[in-house]
Amino acid sequence: MPPRNQGSNRRLNTSPRRAPLIEVRHSAVHGFGVFALRRIRKGTRIIEYVGERISHSAADERYEHKSADDNHTFLFTVDARTVIDGGVGGNEARYINHGCDPNCESALERRRVYVEAIRTIEPGEELCYDYQIQRDADDPPNVDEVFACRCGALSCRGSMLEPRKSPPKRRLARGKAPARGKSPARRKSARR
Ligand SMILES: C[S@@+](CC[C@H](N)C(=O)[O-])C[C@H]1O[C@@H](n2cnc3c(N)ncnc32)[C@H](O)[C@@H]1O
Ligand SMILES: [Zn+2]
Repeated sequence: MPPRNQGSNRRLNTSPRRAPLIEVRHSAVHGFGVFALRRIRKGTRIIEYVGERISHSAADERYEHKSADDNHTFLFTVDARTVIDGGVGGNEARYINHGCDPNCESALERRRVYVEAIRTIEPGEELCYDYQIQRDADDPPNVDEVFACRCGALSCRGSMLEPRKSPPKRRLARGKAPARGKSPARRKSARR
């Protein structure tokens, strides 16, 4: 799928002269999360997801020692070639949790990943985006348990994985879905 906002030239909403926009603290959803300190307007590019850029196979090797039931990583898929490991040289972006009713989304621009507000976010609100982690044909039967979501939204679908595909419709709809950034990466070991 083509990346969102390709070719745009927006600046990150950070300046050393302004009070910080976000902070990392404990989250009721999971571990640490990222929270707004000031009102963040819809469309604001909040932070870049940075870290070591590695191949998928290097990411699999790096985390293959982890249990298949442990879904926790700081990996983010850029494309078929590259994964960003926010656990190495990463910033606050790596602590943004998944939410099924998100206030942010990821955007890919020139193979860099940014987190942007998709609605106005009030001070104190936790930032989240929909990880939409890819499903695979060889997923174990308990894959939705392994990737269980605890976002607490009324519309929570119970899983950080992308929704199951519904059976194909007889007639193809016209037009294309809007392009989006990619979702966080899964380790191969988590699929076994
Ligand atoms: C990039 S980390 C996010 C920061 C994490 N809370 C931490 O303290 O390290 C992604 C991991 O956080 C956990 N996580 C994020 N959102 C979640 C949610 N809505 N429900 C359950 N676990 C979540 C999962 O273990 C996921 O693999
Ligand atoms: Zn949820």
